[in-house]
Amino acid sequence: MNKQTVLITGASKGIGKAIADLVREQNIYDLLTPSHHDLDLSSRESIKNYCAQHPTIDILINNAGINILGAVDSISDDDMDTMLGTNLMGPIALIREVVPSMKAAGSGRIVNISSIWGIRSKENRTLYSATKFALNGVTKALSRELGEHNILVNSLCPGYVNTELTQKNVPPEEQQKIKATIPLGRFAEPNEIAKTVAFLISSDNTYITGQTIIIDGGFLA
Ligand SMILES: NC(=O)c1ccc[n+]([C@@H]2O[C@H](COP(=O)([O-])OP(=O)(O)OC[C@H]3O[C@@H](n4cnc5c(N)ncnc54)[C@H](OP(=O)(O)O)[C@@H]3O)[C@@H](O)[C@H]2O)c1
Repeated sequence: MNKQTVLITGASKGIGKAIADLVREQNIYDLLTPSHHDLDLSSRESIKNYCAQHPTIDILINNAGINILGAVDSISDDDMDTMLGTNLMGPIALIREVVPSMKAAGSGRIVNISSIWGIRSKENRTLYSATKFALNGVTKALSRELGEHNILVNSLCPGYVNTELTQKNVPPEEQQKIKATIPLGRFAEPNEIAKTVAFLISSDNTYITGQTIIIDGGFLA
């Protein structure tokens, strides 16, 4: 039997890399992990070109994302376009390209890596929350639209994860304060997010779709 092809965006580091490492270890899929240069989510042309070269995708993990923090009155036009392009329009454009091959196969899995800031929010996160709340909406809409094709679509909402993005956006003294408010008392390691992604894309997941699954050590509880 042919292996299913998994496309993971943003797999050069952080959560995406942990997902790619785990999926590769399982050795049951063909794996596509394009670099930012090969598949730039902020460019519609790049998405089209990449997908033209890879016409059959069975499983899509929309992981790449950025988080430009800032007070609402400091947001630039560039920030708006970059954030919405990379975190929201890019994933939608990518889904648009890969769904035809999933429909033809009569099955598919899409996992959108969202965030707890797509469930509730915090200061300086107008754009980030706009994209992540919207991504959760995309998940719900698509689960309804694509269910009849056996395409299962879910959002994963990590809390604080120990990656470069978190190190860049959360100063060390704030990290300690935040950890004190997390029931498990620590940030997640990327691999702890990857394990749930691996389950959601696996043949063991036959009935979970349209969900926003929170992995946050109890932070939002
Ligand atoms: N870390 C957290 O605490 C946390 C919590 C909740 C949700 N998330 C979400 O989880 C996802 C991964 O986060 P992370 O912490 O692992 O981030 P990260 O360590 O900063 O990695 C982000 C990845 O996305 C890629 N990327 C950025 N812009 C891109 C673009 N325009 N086109 C293609 N690839 C692009 C980066 O590639 P380059 O390095 O080559 O630019 C990198 O591989 C994001 O969607 C983020 O919003 C993270």
